[in-house]
Amino acid sequence: MAFPNCTVVDHPLVKHKLTLMRRADTSTASFRALLQEISLLLGYEAMRDLKLRDEEIQTPMAKTRAPLLDGKKLVLVPILRAGQGIVDGMLQLVPSARMGHIGLYRDPETLDAVEYYYKVPANLADRDVIVCDPMLATGNSAVAALQRVKRSRPGSLRFVCLLACPEGLTNLREHHPDVHVFTAAIDERLDEHGYILPGLGDAGDRLFGTK
Ligand code: URA
Repeated sequence: MAFPNCTVVDHPLVKHKLTLMRRADTSTASFRALLQEISLLLGYEAMRDLKLRDEEIQTPMAKTRAPLLDGKKLVLVPILRAGQGIVDGMLQLVPSARMGHIGLYRDPETLDAVEYYYKVPANLADRDVIVCDPMLATGNSAVAALQRVKRSRPGSLRFVCLLACPEGLTNLREHHPDVHVFTAAIDERLDEHGYILPGLGDAGDRLFGTK
C-alpha cells in the first residue's frame, strides 16, 4: 500500500540499525544508542526542506555570501516519554533547536490518548515544528499531539517516528492530511493490543529499561 503522506527513509544504514533494534536480545544501552543514531538519519531527511538564509562571511581567501540554517526556528516536540529517545539524535544535528514537550498516555482499555502535560516555546507562528514518537501504532497519540500543537499555530508541522504501520498512517492522514510523516519502516499491522507487528515491542520500556 502506498502512503502519500509518508517518506520511508530506507537507507541501508537505517535498515541495518533498525534490525538490530528489533532483536529481542538487544540491550537497553544498545537500543538507546541505536535510536539516537537512527534519529539523526531520520532527522536529516525530515529537515531537508528547512529554509536557509544567506549571510556574508569571510573565508581565509575572500568575502562571500553563504547559506546558514536559522536553527532557532526549529522546534522539536517529543511525545513523552519515548519521543525523548528521538530528539536526542536530532539535537545532534541542530543543537540550537528549541524544545517543547507533550505528555500523553494510552488508555489501556480504549487505546485513546489522554493528555497530562503540554509546554512549547511561545510564539510558534514562524517556527518549523517536528513532533516525535518512535511508534506510530494506532495513531491516536500522534493525532492528539498534532491537534494540540496545531492550537499553538505553528509555521509548519511534520512528524518523525521510527516505525509506522498502515493503521496509524491511515488514521493520521484522515485527521492531518497536511502533516508529512518520516519513518524508518512501515510494518505489517497492529495486534489486538495496539502493538506493531513484527515491530520491536514497547519502545519506551526498551529505551528506559522499565520491563
Ligand atoms: N507503542 C510501542 O511502544 N510499541 C508498539 O508496538 C506500539 C505502541
